[in-house]
Amino acid sequence: MNAKPRALSGVKPTASSLHLGNYIGAIKNWVKMQEDYDSFYFIPDLHAITVDFDPATLAERTRNTVAQYIAAGVDPNESTLYVQSQVPEHAQLAWVLNCITSFGEASRMTQFKDKSQKGGADSSTVGLFAYPMLMAADILLYNANFVPVGEDQRQHLELTRNLAGRFNNRFGEVFTMPEPLIFKETAKIYDLQEPTSKMSKTGLSPNGAIDFSDEPKVVAKKIKSAVTDDGSEIAFDRDNKPGVSNLLTIYSALTDRPIEAIVEEYRGKMYGHLKVDLADIVVEAMTPIRERVAELKAEPEKLDEIIAHGAEKARAIAQDTLSKVYDKVGFLAAAK
Ligand code: TRP
Repeated sequence: MNAKPRALSGVKPTASSLHLGNYIGAIKNWVKMQEDYDSFYFIPDLHAITVDFDPATLAERTRNTVAQYIAAGVDPNESTLYVQSQVPEHAQLAWVLNCITSFGEASRMTQFKDKSQKGGADSSTVGLFAYPMLMAADILLYNANFVPVGEDQRQHLELTRNLAGRFNNRFGEVFTMPEPLIFKETAKIYDLQEPTSKMSKTGLSPNGAIDFSDEPKVVAKKIKSAVTDDGSEIAFDRDNKPGVSNLLTIYSALTDRPIEAIVEEYRGKMYGHLKVDLADIVVEAMTPIRERVAELKAEPEKLDEIIAHGAEKARAIAQDTLSKVYDKVGFLAAAK
């Protein structure tokens, strides 16, 4: 019997590298959770094709993301680490969930509305519309108890809970009700050049995000050229001092020290002092990760083996859930 609660999460492989915001906002927490949770971390590559993509790049990014998860501390022996498209049950369960989701309900998803408004109805795909139901399938297939995600995923989790309840009521108990574990605002990292927007792979300036793949010199330069605010006092004030507050958040997350203690330490000092020290801290945190990624990529057979093993572990569970679902909805059992 595994008594630990189950946690599940993933980051889409839609950039050439994960960045510091993914690390502090998500993966660092996942790594900590491994001890107390039966953890499932996966690469949502099916989700990555809901927007424009290039096949060769996608394959490379998926492998790279696996290596980056591991390098950042996801242990494939302790957690179940897998690639979504290698577990066909995700797409199979998503179809059933699509069929119990109303069109209106899916149309109210704010992330879909934002993304589809940008390009108009003819440029967004049906896949993008169905994205939240696929995400619900990701979670419900494994009976996850907790789903660590950012605030922007809260509505998708709410939909997942609605679908779980609806299915269980209508067809009989199959799914566990998942709870979102929403990361605290203090774990949210903003763009270094535009500290009111979230650090992202699509930021306006290439200096706005620190990638796992950045060389130490580049990392230091990006921190030192981060936008700071008017005035000179080092204080945490998200509204009036978003730039400095962001640097303090990064500092606190990477040193596990409370922000107040850091503010106290820098009382009377200048922004420059904070940046020089922070550059060292970030370089120190990111360098071993970058080196480990290089090692993992130098042994592609080993990485393949880890990926294959993860898919096998995940599939065993996913198949079990899917067969219960198929049975409940009245699909004939296929001959073995
Ligand atoms: N939609 C999530 C994001 O953009 C990624 C994701 C897909 C996910 N499936 C998931 C996260 C299941 C948690 C659980 O961040």
